[in-house]
Amino acid sequence: MTKYIIHGGNPLHGEIAISGAKNAAVAILPATLLVDGICRIENIPQISDVTRILEILEELGAKIHVVNRHTVDIDCSHVRNTRASYEIMRQIRASYYVIGGLLGRFGSAEVAMPGGCDFGVRPIDQHIKGFIALGAKIDVEGGFIRAETASGRLEGTQVYLDVVSVGATINIMLGACRARGTTIIENAAKEPHVVDVANFLNSMGADIMGAGTDVIKIRGVDYMKGGFYSIIPDQIEAGTYMTAVAAAGGEVLIQNVIPKHLECITAKLLEMGVDVEERDDAVLVRRTGPLRKANIKTMPYPGFPTDMQPQIVACLCLAEGTSVVTEGVWDNRYRYVAEFKRLGANIRVDGKIAVVEGVERLTGAPIRACDLRAGAAMVVAGLAAEGLTEIDSIYHIERGYESLVEKLQNVGADIQMVTVPDGVDKQQAG
Ligand code: EPU
Repeated sequence: MTKYIIHGGNPLHGEIAISGAKNAAVAILPATLLVDGICRIENIPQISDVTRILEILEELGAKIHVVNRHTVDIDCSHVRNTRASYEIMRQIRASYYVIGGLLGRFGSAEVAMPGGCDFGVRPIDQHIKGFIALGAKIDVEGGFIRAETASGRLEGTQVYLDVVSVGATINIMLGACRARGTTIIENAAKEPHVVDVANFLNSMGADIMGAGTDVIKIRGVDYMKGGFYSIIPDQIEAGTYMTAVAAAGGEVLIQNVIPKHLECITAKLLEMGVDVEERDDAVLVRRTGPLRKANIKTMPYPGFPTDMQPQIVACLCLAEGTSVVTEGVWDNRYRYVAEFKRLGANIRVDGKIAVVEGVERLTGAPIRACDLRAGAAMVVAGLAAEGLTEIDSIYHIERGYESLVEKLQNVGADIQMVTVPDGVDKQQAG
């Protein structure tokens, strides 16, 4: 078993470089299924979710050449297999993009239902609605989704999404790239990674307009060639380190970011009394005084991201006053609160609302990461807590954060990853 051991209380000082965006990478990699030619993709984060997607592509017959730590060449020209197995698909939510990629290229796909973090029901009805509108016949049976078209090609159409869904927007966009005719997605998601996927597809020969607005227009093309693409920096990784500085104190230059993508997070940190200075491709985060309360509601972009909700709550636990947090995207994203309480946090949850009463201090304790962002938030809380915090089930965190321990050690955090045989007493682990 591997865990993080954190001795909290050190303010953070120095620089952290942000990796490529996980949620763009896990869509762009399956998007290569649409391309007849070699795609060179740069700035890929080294995280386990990316490894899983590459395994799925290999299983389907893609040729993958690792150029360096963050760059791969992917050639899907010879892919003919349109069935992705249950063993890999169930491990990761974003495996659903394989459906859009296969269906768009071959007009058929057979893919096991996706897995991923558990925060309540995670339906994919809007993806399916989109594929049906594009002319696919869909069967969901025995844990598999089977999608087929009569002619071997999807047909362009108009799709209105009933909920703003990142996954459905991207998946329908993938399916529509090589469809016959034009597709219009209305009420589309506007997240930076939706735009990044569209930019990738356009640079490979697709014809997409409007990504980043709520109406996206895709003119189907017959062929997509290979090319080069570099993935955008990770908005949520950057935001997580911003909250780490806010919670633990200190001054850190967070580099390789697009400050515009961070505005929703920056605005809240400023309100809480943290200094955030925007540079061209960096933000300087400094906390000198006490944290102030803030009310937060998570919403689709450009609102405050749900994937930053647990990390900002870690800061609010230590803010002066009472903060009200409303989760506006997922049904059940407060499972981590029980773990925070072990650190001394004072939080009451009622449905989608959490009321956070700031406390003077958090104190270290053994806790368990229950999903990716909750786990990251536990690191943030552990860095600010007095004494020793041990976090287990860190495989959740490793899904989405490249070199987290190393990046934090470089700014003065006392954090280590240790491996202990299962069943060894927690005291020995330290
Ligand atoms: N929804 C439906 N039907 C659908 C799809 C979504 O009702 O067919 C609902 C969901 O239940 C949810 C809302 O719409 O209430 C938004 O879901 P969305 O489809 O946008 O989420 P997703 O695409 O499955 C991505 C990220 C999540 C992030 C959400 C929201 C990836 C791989 N995952 O998920 O990221 O929370 O968007 O921004 O891109 C994470 O990185 O930790 C993570 C969970």
